[in-house]
Amino acid sequence: MSRSKLIAGNWKMNTNKATATELAKAVAAGASSAKASLGVAPPFVYLDAVGQALAGSKVLLGSQDVYFEKNGAFTGEISVEMLKDLNVKFVLTGHSERRHVLMESSELVAKKAAAVYGGGLMLIHCIGEKLHERDSNQTFGVCQKQLDELKNFSIDDPSRLVIAYEPVWAIGTGRNATDAQAQEVHAYIRQSLGRMWNKDFADSVRIQYGGSMKPENAGGLLAQPDIDGGLIGGAALKAESFLAIVAAAK
Ligand code: PGA
Repeated sequence: MSRSKLIAGNWKMNTNKATATELAKAVAAGASSAKASLGVAPPFVYLDAVGQALAGSKVLLGSQDVYFEKNGAFTGEISVEMLKDLNVKFVLTGHSERRHVLMESSELVAKKAAAVYGGGLMLIHCIGEKLHERDSNQTFGVCQKQLDELKNFSIDDPSRLVIAYEPVWAIGTGRNATDAQAQEVHAYIRQSLGRMWNKDFADSVRIQYGGSMKPENAGGLLAQPDIDGGLIGGAALKAESFLAIVAAAK
């Protein structure tokens, strides 16, 4: 089984229209020689401009969030169909900032994941433990609970499912998980996917690492047998560092 690596940039609430477009163009220009698959998730309001800047390149357009309803009276929300209309190919669910800063419940995350996958898009489902949970040996339990959010809908195509393991204590802190710490949890996640579906399915699902991944540590992390890419925050805001991580994905 061979899984192609996927490097995705999560721009969070950063950039403006001009810098988002400029960054997208620079990533697109550097993407042609990349061996890995790559994508960027700009803020909602710049999806259209970034999509146009990426046109004709291999860089996938992604969304940082979505709402699970199809349409209707949900002031401020954006549906899967609206994202598809703008050529969005993947959507993040369960990002720790949505869970712990915007207070999304596990139930809401599960509904969003079902809407993304059911709508035919690629789902990047983020999971990961907080520091006190790691310190009290709850890492596997927390990850399992967040993987269980995928249990209530049908997933048949493993190529449209990506799990991003992002230990909360490593996100935006400059303190990444070590190669061994990350590999240990990735191996657990793959075993768990094997129990939830089957081994062939689990062997085909890409599991990204996220949390202070940067050019200096990407090579070691991406060389681990169960690390199939990265979800990059801070280092994705400069084309140079993002593309250096892409280049480290052999
Ligand atoms: P970071 O963010 O690379 O800035 O730690 C990763 C993420 O939140 O996806």
